[in-house]
Parts: sequence; structure tokens; C-alpha cells
Amino acid sequence: MSQTKKSYVIRFANELNNFRSMEFNALASLYKLDFKFIEPISEKPFMIIETNDEAALLNVFNRIILATSLFECWVSSSDFDEFIDEVNNCTQIHNDYYRNCSFRIQVEAFGRKISQQQKIERIERLSGLPLKGKIRMINPDVTFYYMEYYGLNPNRQPEKPYQILFGKWITDSNRKLCSTFSLKTRKFIANTSMDATLSFLMANIAQININDIVYDPFVGSGSLLVSAAYFGAYVCGTDIDYPLLHGMIKPTRVGSQQRDDDESVHGNLKQYKLESRYIDVIAGDSSLPLFRNDIEFDAIITDPPYGIRESRERIGTKKSDPTVPIEYLDRHLPAKLQYKLDDIYNDLLNFSAQHLKPNGMVIFWAPYFKHFYKNNDYKNFKQQQQTQTLPQIDSLPKYDHQDPAIRFQHENLRLLSFGEQKLTKNCSRILVVMQKILK
Ligand SMILES: C[S@@+](CC[C@H](N)C(=O)[O-])C[C@H]1O[C@@H](n2cnc3c(N)ncnc32)[C@H](O)[C@@H]1O
Repeated sequence: MSQTKKSYVIRFANELNNFRSMEFNALASLYKLDFKFIEPISEKPFMIIETNDEAALLNVFNRIILATSLFECWVSSSDFDEFIDEVNNCTQIHNDYYRNCSFRIQVEAFGRKISQQQKIERIERLSGLPLKGKIRMINPDVTFYYMEYYGLNPNRQPEKPYQILFGKWITDSNRKLCSTFSLKTRKFIANTSMDATLSFLMANIAQININDIVYDPFVGSGSLLVSAAYFGAYVCGTDIDYPLLHGMIKPTRVGSQQRDDDESVHGNLKQYKLESRYIDVIAGDSSLPLFRNDIEFDAIITDPPYGIRESRERIGTKKSDPTVPIEYLDRHLPAKLQYKLDDIYNDLLNFSAQHLKPNGMVIFWAPYFKHFYKNNDYKNFKQQQQTQTLPQIDSLPKYDHQDPAIRFQHENLRLLSFGEQKLTKNCSRILVVMQKILK
């Protein structure tokens, strides 16, 4: 590992920007990447770090979903006119290898469209560099990377870029996983299957590692198990929906009349040759104790039901159910009760505190309603609800604070990170990561 320190640019995809730092920091921690921010994660489509551990950085890059490419940063300039001088003065360009190798120059602009002709002009500006090797568009020894950054406001594009980056391309990320594992070609999906990008993102943020045992207490069609299994975990889950787990619902694909036998969580893992990682799925109610106390998981990764596209249910006795004779009420199982959001999260945290290994992670989504929190005033919300069409109070969490550090608390779990994904103007969901600690 004892290399000299180098600067690297990490180019992000323009997607799920709120989760960039959660993912990068989680993978950096998993692969013990010792680094320093030169330009930290911001709204820009890139960040710059410094490290002497390129091997660990490549491990991060092999998994990262929200980045597209990695390159060595030789020059970062804010002056278009001085840029060429800065490249000429950088030490790397005078290295014998780079002076004599075959090469090509890849040009990119962010925040402004530049034509093919303008790209060629940029390359011509670089023609004074001391590069003596052959230009080779296919399989060159080195690809140099030139990027102009024009800011994020498409209505106010400056004449000259705010920043120009130049360096050596190292690798692209593994984002093609998102299309390889797309739900469009997935054997078995359900109403709320998690898409491939978010599933891989969650597995990365949860730092799923080879041979981990991973559990999803609201497993549905098992999308989160697929990504965990891809990273080498053994996976299992629970869902209350017996027909869903046992292939008794309508077929996944529109137009097909009959379900295939392997339209199941197991079938999904088989589709991707990950069946050796499948433990099992249990039809059961995650509000009830299902496991012996000594069963432990490395990670719990889940998307609980919020009651928007799927019902929130748990098994229980409805004392007031008039259809059940009074003498049977005590033993009346299973009647379905509404599973309140507060209870879902309390149960999930208690379960995680009991069944995670020390330092194990639980990662989950929780809904976040803006108009409820805007005034940060629960009483006010209750009054408004009498006069306006707002969601039923019971369908909302019973807390008047949006801060996950207050909303999600357990003495044996500590909040590691969280990020928000906007769904509509007033409604978001937050991804929360907590880690088991021993007191
Ligand atoms: C948001 S979906 C999960 C989707 C899943 N991540 C996937 O990719 O298909 C929530 C799941 O929780 C299940 N569920 C609802 N109440 C439950 C309970 N009490 N115990 C276990 N599962 C429950 C629902 O049947 C539904 O499949």
C-alpha cells in the first residue's frame, strides 16, 4: 500500500444525489480506505479526494452505484486561459511513460452542451503538451480525461467553465449492474418491488460483505435479498403475504395467464445464479417473535410497508369484531389488524437490537410527510385535519419531529446516517442506517 499520495476525481451519476456521501462513506469504511477530501461531496457532479491506497479505492469503485468513473486528478483549474500552462507544469505529463504511450483524450462538459466540433477544439488546445505517443481511439495505453464544469443552472450558463479537470482515466464503476438486474427482466416482481439501483445502493450502504447473513423482515418479492446475495451474503426473509410468497397471486408479467413455478424469491436468486446464497423465506408476521433469541444476523435490510401501495397488517385479535362469537375472541387468530407505523418501527428497532451481531447494521426506509412536519407542530396539524383533507392521523407517525435522531432511538442502536428521497412535493421517504452497539 505504500504508494505516494495521489488525487482522484470521482465522477457521480446525476441520480439520487442525496445518497452520494452515505454510499461513498459506507464503502470507504468497508474497504478501510484512508482518504482526505480535497473537494468534498457537494452539488457538483464530482468530488476530489487524496489517498495513497489505490487498491482500496478500486474496491470501492468496483461496487459503487452512484458514481460513473474514476480518474487521477492531475490539474483542477478555475481559469480557462491558464489551464494549459497548469497542465504543462504538472509533473505527471513529463513522466517518460505518459510522454511515449499511445493515448486518446476524452472530453466532457457538465452544465452545457458542447458540440463535437467544440470537443475537437478542446483537444487541439492540448496539442502543445509534450505527448509523443500515437493517438489511438481503440485500446490506447492511456485515456486522458478533460472535463469542463459550467455549474448547475441551465438558465445561467457562464461563457467560460467554472472549473476544468484534467487527468488519467482509471476505471468506470459497476453501474451496469442496474440494467443487468433491472425489474423489467426480473422473474418475479410484486407491487412494491425495490428497483435495482436502490437495492444495490442499500446493500452498499449496509456494507454487506461476503458470507454475511442478511435478513429482510418485509421481504415481498425479495429485491433487497438479490442485491445482498450478489455481494456474497446468505439471505433470508419474512412476509405476511402467504399467497405472494407461495406463488398464488397473479403472474408477474402483463399478458401471461399462468404463473411459472419459479416465480418466487428463490426463482429470482436462481435467475441470477445466486441460489447458493438462498437460505429461505418464511410466511409470518414480523410483529411477532419468530426467531430464537440467540439467532443473529450481520445485517437487516428492509423496506417496511407504509400503507400507500401495500397494506400494513399484523396478526391479532380484533376484540370488537362482531362476526366472531364472544367465546372465540381470545383465541381468534389470525384476524388482520392495521399495523401502525410507530409499531412497525418500534418492532423493527427492538428486533434489530436483539438479533443483530455487534456492529451489525439495520437499514430501512421510513415515510416523511412534509406538510405534517412543516410547522413542526403536531397539535396544529390535528386542528388542520378537522377542516382540510389531510391524511388520516392514524396513518401518520406519532411524533412531531422529523429529525431521525429523535424519531428513531434505541439504547442498543446508534444512528449512523440518513438521506431523503423526494417522492412528491409533500411526501418523501428517508433511508435510515443504524448500527448495533453494546452497552
Ligand atoms: C414495501 S413491501 C416490500 C417490498 C420488497 N422490498 C420487494 O422488493 O418486493 C412491504 C412488504 O411487507 C409485507 N408486510 C406487511 N405487513 C407485514 C407484517 N406484519 N409482517 C411481515 N410482512 C409484512 C407486505 O406483504 C409487503 O410485501
